[in-house]
Amino acid sequence: MKLLEPLSIGSMRLKNRMVMAPMTTNYGNEDQTPSDRLIAFLLERAKGGVGLITVEVCTVDVKQKYQPQSLTLGSDEFIPAHRKLTDALHQYDVKIQPQITHPGPESMSGFYFGEMPVAPSATTGACTGLPARELDIAELDGIVEAYAQTARRAREAGYDGIELHAAHCYMLLGTFLSPLKNKRMDAYGTDTPENRTRLLVRVLQRIKAVAGTDFPITLRISGFERIPGGRDAADTAAIAPLLVDAGVDAFHVSGGVSDPMVSQMICGPEYPDGYNLPAAEAIKRVVDVPVMVVGRFLDPEFAEQTLQDKRADMIVMGRPLLADPQLPNKVAAGKLEEIRRCISCQNCIDSMFLWPMDARMNCAVNPATGREQHLNYAPAAQQKHVVVIGAGPAGMEAARVACERGHRITLLEKSRRLGGSLT
Ligand SMILES: Cc1cc2nc3c(=O)[nH]c(=O)nc-3n(C[C@H](O)[C@H](O)[C@H](O)COP(=O)(O)O)c2cc1C
Repeated sequence: MKLLEPLSIGSMRLKNRMVMAPMTTNYGNEDQTPSDRLIAFLLERAKGGVGLITVEVCTVDVKQKYQPQSLTLGSDEFIPAHRKLTDALHQYDVKIQPQITHPGPESMSGFYFGEMPVAPSATTGACTGLPARELDIAELDGIVEAYAQTARRAREAGYDGIELHAAHCYMLLGTFLSPLKNKRMDAYGTDTPENRTRLLVRVLQRIKAVAGTDFPITLRISGFERIPGGRDAADTAAIAPLLVDAGVDAFHVSGGVSDPMVSQMICGPEYPDGYNLPAAEAIKRVVDVPVMVVGRFLDPEFAEQTLQDKRADMIVMGRPLLADPQLPNKVAAGKLEEIRRCISCQNCIDSMFLWPMDARMNCAVNPATGREQHLNYAPAAQQKHVVVIGAGPAGMEAARVACERGHRITLLEKSRRLGGSLT
């Protein structure tokens, strides 16, 4: 199977072509370090056999906070906490990279540090609703350096590479690349491919200079912004070779732009499976580095066919690995019917919008997601006969876990069907 074949991104050798997408969880500590809960969540995916794990947004500046409990590598003091994460995951044969970001107009710096968010041109944060001011050209040097130092820290913390977030007309690099948010008339505007990519090219070149030419960079980009006035697939393909020249080792093709409910980035069933594929193919035609694609690869057979047809080199999965961290192992074992499938209910992302309440990510079909620290499927000391009353989702999950632990189960249901409110 193509999905199981190894592949290299620059110097990083991957055991297979299945990649975990970056997903902000809000499992981090208040001080922006990875928590034991986050490590346990990622560890479960590492054990599940995925080849490359992209850790969620990790900011380049401590004061540019993205979410209440997201991560930073904006200062050397954060390196040891990230080292704990990489050491834990590297026990399993997996590669790991953080998603390096300056949140730009999506920064919560206003809430936390009283500093106005920044953007290529004055705008309002799509998710925060906060005003952001236009960056002065002189400020860009500091931002380029922050990216480079963050990449260096990522390497020192034991990561195998980085993903640069420049997608979704979101964050800082994504907004600089898009005419929808970048209205500048100077050398960093969007009027030519060189101007449009100028900041990103500087960031890429400086990262290579500081973190090393052999430290792989994956670039996450929207192939097609899907909004009138935004970049289409041809526009993105036109800049892709410039970005490879500047140091990109692989492309990660997403699509769409940010909106308050991020419904274009994390698409529901109204979008077809593999909805970013045409844009990924357009980029693949013009570059000679690996191209990975994300977006509703819920069915491993479709993912395999995508690789067989050479439409992409790697498949990135977000929600499918929340629903079933063992998906890659089950693919390898040919046990596709045992995969617990994501149903695109969007509960994972909706649960993130409860801030300032307990806005932590959870999964409607996998109650263990985010609770890995406290999982206990070990055989029970004393085997019992457990009677579960009610075969709705909760009763069935209780019965399943009790069964895994070795108890004898009787499941009682008054209706003629199992599944309760799920049916
Ligand atoms: C809970 C959640 C959090 C996400 N956080 C991020 C993020 O921090 N950075 C990012 O670029 N994309 C983020 N995404 C988008 C995913 O990386 C991915 O592009 C999207 O879920 C579509 O892939 P899928 O159909 O395999 O889930 C997030 C998605 C989810 C569901």
